[in-house]
Amino acid sequence: MVRLILDSSTGSYPVIIGSSLNRELRAVVTRLDPTGVAIVTDSNVRPWAVKVAKTIKRAGLKTAIHVVPVGERSKSMSQLHEVLAFLERQRIDRGGCVIAVGGGRVGDLAGFAAAVWQRGVRLVTVPTNLLAMVDSSIGGKTGINGTRSKNAIGAFWQPSAVVSDLACLETLPAADYRDAFAEVVKYAVAMDRGLFDLLQKERPRLLAADRAMLERVVFRCVAAKALIVAKDEREKGPRAILNYGHTAGHALEAATGFRISHGRAVAFGMRVAARIALSMDLCSKRLVESQDALLTAYGLPDKAPRVDPSRLLSAIPRDKKARRGKVAWVLPRRLGHADFGHAVPSALVRRIVTRALA
Ligand SMILES: NC(=O)c1ccc[n+]([C@@H]2O[C@H](COP(=O)([O-])OP(=O)(O)OC[C@H]3O[C@@H](n4cnc5c(N)ncnc54)[C@H](O)[C@@H]3O)[C@@H](O)[C@H]2O)c1
Ligand SMILES: [Zn+2]
Repeated sequence: MVRLILDSSTGSYPVIIGSSLNRELRAVVTRLDPTGVAIVTDSNVRPWAVKVAKTIKRAGLKTAIHVVPVGERSKSMSQLHEVLAFLERQRIDRGGCVIAVGGGRVGDLAGFAAAVWQRGVRLVTVPTNLLAMVDSSIGGKTGINGTRSKNAIGAFWQPSAVVSDLACLETLPAADYRDAFAEVVKYAVAMDRGLFDLLQKERPRLLAADRAMLERVVFRCVAAKALIVAKDEREKGPRAILNYGHTAGHALEAATGFRISHGRAVAFGMRVAARIALSMDLCSKRLVESQDALLTAYGLPDKAPRVDPSRLLSAIPRDKKARRGKVAWVLPRRLGHADFGHAVPSALVRRIVTRALA
């Protein structure tokens, strides 16, 4: 088990990573001494929420579970309303606590409900998939979708604790597990050379979901994200580095009508970004090749779905990171280091995207 303490403007909180963390979860919640506990989950991960509820009850606290539907639809105003009605029924007051048990969607929805209910109640996050453990559970972004745009309504709301129990990954579909490695490779290429080497060396153990090795990897990803978030909690600048691979990645998601997984899209986006960097003499050919090989080794192939390059290109400026129509690219410079704010000639983007989709 490893424990990190993350600092935020609203206080520090622990992130605990390990296996079968019932005792730790109980200790975390007991220390918060909540007046009430409400658990939010989705129908796929309900069994894990039931386990969490048992743990909470063993601590002598009353709790109940609210189950939201699976999928992006859950990040809606109507589902938010349902969650808030649940908190009201459970009489969660300012001293209460929300526990989010699930992936990024449950985390975003339940986190936002915690941020606005009674002008803010405490939040404990129990991420159940690898993507949420290495990314969405860290950094305090919460929210739901607008009628037309993703994550349009939200708040920065830091959790009181994050408990990443690797045992939850047992029930995760293999494809979801594998695709989450795109975000792990993102941290490695953009921020952590040691992680890159670890991913190369320990691939068999990691693909077999070896818990000890996963603990090290999740720890390094959380540490990498925490370092950036600490510098830029409200996303004014440096946090953009976390967007590595996401510029072309988001555009591919949009151009395919979200039929491609986020991880696969980000892997595509990283391949594109590295090639742009190479063409601009900002990185070496070796970096492009090493990144390609690592992505392929983790089952993230370079084969992109059939998409018209023009559709993808026209989706790029609509990315929310685009300012006044200009896209500020995050580009890798050497393994373990990327920087942001690069303006890339659109003809070059077109050439590289067209080739990547060929
Ligand atoms: N807040 C942030 O900083 C941040 C960062 C990245 C992404 N996000 C958001 O996260 C969302 C995507 O995250 P996600 O893919 O984790 O979404 P998700 O919560 O929908 O999880 C994906 C699927 O995996 C299932 N699942 C989760 N854990 C499981 C387990 N242990 N066993 C079996 N099934 C399991 C879920 O039920 C769901 O069907 C998006 O809405 C995105 O906007 C937020
Ligand atoms: Zn992502």
